[in-house]
Amino acid sequence: GHSEELRTDIVTLTTHIIAEQQKSGKPATGDMSLLLSSIGSACKWISNVVRKAELLKVIGATAITNVQAETVQKLDVLSNEIFINLIKGTGRAAILVSEENDEAIFIESERGHYIVVFDPLDGSSNIDCGVSVGTIFGIYHVLDRSAKPSLKDVLRPGTEMVAGGYCMYGSSTIMVLTTGDGVDGFTLDPNTGEFLLTHQKIKLGKKKIYSINEGNSHAFDKAVKAYLDSVKFPPAVNGKVPAYTARYVGSMVGDVHRTLLYGGIFMYPTGKLRILYECFPMAMLMEQAGGKASTGRKRMLEVVPESIHSRAPIFLGTAAEVDAVEALYKKLD
Ligand code: AHG
Ligand code: MN
Ligand code: MN
Ligand code: MN
Repeated sequence: GHSEELRTDIVTLTTHIIAEQQKSGKPATGDMSLLLSSIGSACKWISNVVRKAELLKVIGATAITNVQAETVQKLDVLSNEIFINLIKGTGRAAILVSEENDEAIFIESERGHYIVVFDPLDGSSNIDCGVSVGTIFGIYHVLDRSAKPSLKDVLRPGTEMVAGGYCMYGSSTIMVLTTGDGVDGFTLDPNTGEFLLTHQKIKLGKKKIYSINEGNSHAFDKAVKAYLDSVKFPPAVNGKVPAYTARYVGSMVGDVHRTLLYGGIFMYPTGKLRILYECFPMAMLMEQAGGKASTGRKRMLEVVPESIHSRAPIFLGTAAEVDAVEALYKKLD
């Protein structure tokens, strides 16, 4: 209605981050706020290009195969470049790790005390058919400000991440973020270019949904097969079968966003997803929203990646479902 247009009690990404910093009581240098605002700017730019991709002729693949042995899409390159430039421009980052860069990027900067790990465009195989894609990021603080930044600052458990989040370019553009005190969602208002707080302290929903690419069934562990049987053929209760719904978008950001809002479990058991810039940020968000994330055998955030592109199996979502998977691994491993 008309009153909507005149709302003056808006909370933007920037003012929210500052409020969170003040609540944390930690001495706020404003560096984290600057970093997150710049990540917001990069996501706005990517959102703008993703929506016009067909028109701008930036759809489709390049001739490049990346370190992941994937064919690089044109939008992968553009998203990666804008992200690197805008984060470098803050002067607050010491190291960048991107899915699209073989090596970590070291930046000489006086006040560079943060590490940003990111997947500039997640779900890029879905771009050409218009299915939601997104950007995923995580932030560490360097271990020692007086030391020279090194990979020791990066190959750390996810429990040491100070922020994690994603931006999904779907029917609307929504930034979902945690800095360690709950999960908040910000919807991009295309008219003002502002991310406005629209989802406060998101808690996992309670829907019974399972999400997995069953095309990989040939490679599933016994535990995964047993879990899938348990959700496909649940025992009848009072003559009623409490059936689950199957949903799979094929973009991690899409599948995780649905799991965060609706509940359920998302699984990629065969280790395609990358620990630092896919599994850790999503695991941090799930735990902050009352859910869980596991490799099947251990808490995801306690994994220590061996290299910057290391992968892991991941099961995330409703705590009871993740617990059920872990129990089956214990029983059947
Ligand atoms: P990316 O596009 O960043 O390489 O990530 C793709 C990932 C993730 O988005 C998704 O969950 C998974 O690939 C889907 O894999 P399958 O197509 O094998 O199901
Ligand atoms: Mn990729
Ligand atoms: Mn990805
Ligand atoms: Mn990607």
